[in-house]
Amino acid sequence: MNALSARPLLKRTWVRIALVILALILAARWFFSSPPVPARKSGQQMDAIVYHKYGSPDVLRLEHIDKLLPNDSQVLIKVRAASANPLDWHFMHGTPYIMRIGTGFGKPKAIRLGADVSGVIELVGSAVTQFKPGDEVFGTGGGSYGQYVRTSFKDVVLKPASISFEQAAAIPVAGVTALQGLRDKGKIQKGQKVLINGASGGVGTFAVQIAKAMGAEVTGVCSTKNIELVKSLGADHVIDYTKDDYSKGAEHYDVILDNVGNHSLSENRHVLVKHGTYVLIGGGGPNDGKWVGPLLRPIAELFQRPFVSQRQTMLLAQINQADLNVLANLIETKKVTPVIDRTYPLSEVPAAIRYLEEGHAKGKVVITVRR
Ligand SMILES: NC(=O)c1ccc[n+]([C@@H]2O[C@H](COP(=O)([O-])OP(=O)(O)OC[C@H]3O[C@@H](n4cnc5c(N)ncnc54)[C@H](OP(=O)(O)O)[C@@H]3O)[C@@H](O)[C@H]2O)c1
Repeated sequence: MNALSARPLLKRTWVRIALVILALILAARWFFSSPPVPARKSGQQMDAIVYHKYGSPDVLRLEHIDKLLPNDSQVLIKVRAASANPLDWHFMHGTPYIMRIGTGFGKPKAIRLGADVSGVIELVGSAVTQFKPGDEVFGTGGGSYGQYVRTSFKDVVLKPASISFEQAAAIPVAGVTALQGLRDKGKIQKGQKVLINGASGGVGTFAVQIAKAMGAEVTGVCSTKNIELVKSLGADHVIDYTKDDYSKGAEHYDVILDNVGNHSLSENRHVLVKHGTYVLIGGGGPNDGKWVGPLLRPIAELFQRPFVSQRQTMLLAQINQADLNVLANLIETKKVTPVIDRTYPLSEVPAAIRYLEEGHAKGKVVITVRR
């Protein structure tokens, strides 16, 4: 490439970087903020985990707060179980800081925590025809660590009778992320070689099973203590990251689904086939990348895109009824089983988040809420 051709390329790249940063800020704003919903009080109180300032799990409190009524398009769920995701500690710490554009700069705008939920519908808004009181559902609801949560009816589906509330609560964020990462971003095809980095965590345990259900040849990357678990989920090959580095191996993969983000893009490309796809799901702990977190990678990807044959992409999972039903079906037909590591009562959410923050959960961490 000579000096004459380099300038327009650089110009175009900067324009694209500016566009991607703008898109990421908007996405963070959308992803991390709760829509402003006018609150109607029921006159009753309920227990919920709340946080009034950003920080470690020490900022979490179990408080009596108003039990709010659903608005027209919402349902009020009596929570039976919830599950923890790294998303929770992102909200709790307010990191990466870029997300505070949506969640509040000095202190959190929304004080409740938790996303995944399963439970029984207690009330439906006047415009909701799909559900009725008494229906057992699962999905997402902002502030699910509480005795009740209200959420859009579009964020939940009926819970299959064959699965428990705990199993159902384990599904939404991790399951949908794995499904959309493999199907929509990875576009995996039967017979393809797929590597799941971080195969033993919340997303990974779903991803191994979903990739197998889609007919892929699956390699899972985990530590020694999780080898048997990952094999039991159907992985054809397991790489123990404490002994071997997948990015230095001789094998080449059609798709890499990366839940850990501990190798550079070029190291990942090294073990991708010529037109393979690298899908970044996430990675890092509460003390990593405090300003933009995993959002740096798509920017680096833009720089590299003109020069590489492989596709490198990032997912921002979007919960929707269709995909929750796909997962419910995979579970009912026994192609996928949610893996539950530990369960904690509502009062012990701080301990649950502390455990998740260590980054070594084996499947999902579930919160149970007494009837
Ligand atoms: N983009 C999205 O829309 C989206 C959605 C959901 C989640 N995420 C992100 O995806 C990431 C994974 O989420 P998660 O729910 O699966 O988290 P998680 O359950 O906390 O993941 C923990 C797992 O990571 C494994 N792990 C840690 N270091 C590893 C390494 N060096 N190599 C391989 N595995 C390693 C651990 O296994 P060992 O104990 O054996 O170390 C553990 O089983 C997080 O960063 C999360 O924020 C993104």
